[in-house]
Amino acid sequence: MQKVVCPGSYDPVTNGHIDVFKRASDIANEVVVAVLVNHSKAGLFSIEERVDLIKESCQHLPKVSVQTFDGLLVDFCKTQGVTAIVKGLRAVSDFDYELQMSQMNYQLGQVETLFVATNPLYSFLSSSLVREVARHGGDISTSVPKSVAQALKVKYKR
Ligand code: PNS
Repeated sequence: MQKVVCPGSYDPVTNGHIDVFKRASDIANEVVVAVLVNHSKAGLFSIEERVDLIKESCQHLPKVSVQTFDGLLVDFCKTQGVTAIVKGLRAVSDFDYELQMSQMNYQLGQVETLFVATNPLYSFLSSSLVREVARHGGDISTSVPKSVAQALKVKYKR
């Protein structure tokens, strides 16, 4: 497979995301991690911070590059010459929404979505849970890369 995209908000990137990027790199020549620029939601980390944290965390994955996008994902896929979208599925609860999105993306742009079953080590992980635990001073050291753990400490002044 030529080039795939792993889209998301990544506020911040977690070890679960990194696992999906790694597995996407095992099946594709190029993996573009595409960070959504959401104009209606500020988030904890700025888009630039999210991109930097992903780049730092993916230094061991040479096929991975990081970009931002706004607008429709299928338009980004077209301009980038992307063959498929790759996403992780953590649990049945992810399935309904992911199925809807994949069907819509196929209808809009005939772009296929491939799902990888999340490593059970990370199946409970989400960026929002990581933010909440970090905000209350909990230990997120096994959930996120070192640079992200450090950045969360700075954000929450711990
Ligand atoms: O990490 P998230 O927030 O679950 O990622 C959601 C994302 C970025 C994959 C999704 O919101 C998206 O693709 N947004 C771009 C706008 C778009 O194409 N919407 C139609 C999707 S069917």
